[in-house]
Amino acid sequence: MSYIQQKALIVKKEELAQGIFRYTLKNSELVSLSRAGQFVHILCGEKTLRRPISICSIDKENGVFDIVFSAKGEGTHWMSGQNKGDEYDVLGPLGNGFDTDIKGRVLLIGGGIGVPPMLCVASEILAPCDAILGFGSKDAVILEKDFKAVCSNVHITTDDGSFGRKGLVTDLLSEIADRQKYSVIYACGPAPMLKAVAMIAEKNKIKCCVSLEERMGCGVGACLVCACKTKHGNIEQFSHVCKDGPVFNAQEVVW
Ligand SMILES: Cc1cc2nc3c(=O)[nH]c(=O)nc-3n(C[C@H](O)[C@H](O)[C@H](O)COP(=O)(O)OP(=O)(O)OC[C@H]3O[C@@H](n4cnc5c(N)ncnc54)[C@H](O)[C@@H]3O)c2cc1C
Ligand code: FES
Repeated sequence: MSYIQQKALIVKKEELAQGIFRYTLKNSELVSLSRAGQFVHILCGEKTLRRPISICSIDKENGVFDIVFSAKGEGTHWMSGQNKGDEYDVLGPLGNGFDTDIKGRVLLIGGGIGVPPMLCVASEILAPCDAILGFGSKDAVILEKDFKAVCSNVHITTDDGSFGRKGLVTDLLSEIADRQKYSVIYACGPAPMLKAVAMIAEKNKIKCCVSLEERMGCGVGACLVCACKTKHGNIEQFSHVCKDGPVFNAQEVVW
């Protein structure tokens, strides 16, 4: 795992939906090392631990990358208080990322704040891809245009039906997975969604990889804060989400 700890300059800040921010950060060295599905660990002022945030897009030519985060607690509120011209202290890129060298058709599934990392996959992958993106309501829908620019088909679902199709991403997945031939499903979102996606993929015999979230300390495999249970054959063990993940083959995860 090759990562650096450096300052990243904030070159753009945008509020995509209430409390959801997109920041464009400049650091050519970090960008040159990054791949889809990896994350950066951001120092949030002096008091708190770093906070892990996924890379949402990578622009190698200009040495910039985007992150999108929800300001929900102390750390992310501190982050959202920073403006263009300020710098974040960033450790990264961390984690293993998604394999983007795929043959066949790929289905990307994102739920809520799990949507942004899938945009990076959609942009980096060479194979044709479709996306199912799920949100609570119309007000929370983000990145629709960005996905439409890089995916063949983009389906939006909302829990309350105020935009796109009413229901969960998994309702739509059950229909589509049955009809379409996908080589692989990649998903990021809340754990219950990922578990349901994994079950549907298994039923339809489609390979599935999921990006897991755990609270983190060090971000580099040294503190055990991010342990999650995985299985290899019949043997169960603990893996580190930060170092062994965050992307896991769904069949390895003990749900
Ligand atoms: C690999 C990885 C990638 C992530 N990518 C993104 C991203 O792209 N955008 C984004 O908005 N968030 C992302 N997260 C979640 C983000 O790290 C947490 O929301 C953030 O650390 C919360 O910090 P805080 O200080 O604002 O909130 P806190 O005050 O620490 O907590 C606020 C609330 O968030 C919950 N929470 C804290 N950490 C996590 C976590 N790791 N997973 C789930 N819930 C948590 C707490 O239980 C609490 O309910 C990612 C997490 C991981 C592990
Ligand atoms: S966060 Fe320290 S081991 Fe993963």
